[in-house]
Amino acid sequence: MGNRWLLDELAHAGPEHLDPDFVAGYDRKQGMPDPSVELAALRAAGVTAGATVVDLGAGTGRLAIAAAREFRRVVAVDVSPAMLDHLARTAEAEGISNLERVRGGFLTYRHEGAPADAVVTRHALHQLPDFWKAVALDRIAKMLRPGGVLRLRDLIYDFKPSEAEEVFGRWFASAADDPRAGYTADDYAEHIRTEHSTFRWLLEPMLDAAGFEVVDAEFPHPCYGSYTCVLRTA
Ligand SMILES: C[S@@+](CC[C@H](N)C(=O)[O-])C[C@H]1O[C@@H](n2cnc3c(N)ncnc32)[C@H](O)[C@@H]1O
Repeated sequence: MGNRWLLDELAHAGPEHLDPDFVAGYDRKQGMPDPSVELAALRAAGVTAGATVVDLGAGTGRLAIAAAREFRRVVAVDVSPAMLDHLARTAEAEGISNLERVRGGFLTYRHEGAPADAVVTRHALHQLPDFWKAVALDRIAKMLRPGGVLRLRDLIYDFKPSEAEEVFGRWFASAADDPRAGYTADDYAEHIRTEHSTFRWLLEPMLDAAGFEVVDAEFPHPCYGSYTCVLRTA
């Protein structure tokens, strides 16, 4: 990709993700999310124990480490050195040896070895503006074998622009009070202002254009959703 016009992924990574103090408290703030949901989705899509799985924007590695217990080769990719250091310490403490760590991003990671059977990405794609999301999805398609699986979970807006005020008002009302124990209304407001969550009705055509068929979509909240997608073979 031409370096002259390539987005600076580190500048868009979210400054908190580069801060070791924030990273140290990250899992607690996230509510210690259960990686078994994503693993079950991969299994349901036919990903088996011999698989190569790439986690893009792996963060502290809760999902990548759990995936490494189940799948043969797991690559955890993140732009943040602080996140990768944290992930490395946890993986070592847990005796995980089949987890590779790569400093890179959606737009810069170069997959080596056999094509991936699955790519997972959780709460990270929204760091990129929409043009770059579409480029990232195309790059993900090129990492995967035909029929490979993309499991994508993110903050995605499942409403009409005219509903934004009402939806965000309800979202803020459900937010945590303690910033160490969860995301506060201020955190959500900052997310909306400074990050690039997009509408569901814009993201789904991007998935299609990259060659993915959505086989499962779940939106338990108007601001969150997940997809299981399969790369079309022709
Ligand atoms: C909100 S955290 C999510 C981490 C993890 N996937 C999880 O579910 O807890 C977003 C992660 O994406 C990483 N990130 C930001 N921009 C990225 C990019 N362009 N490519 C890859 N990772 C990126 C950040 O460093 C951070 O670790």
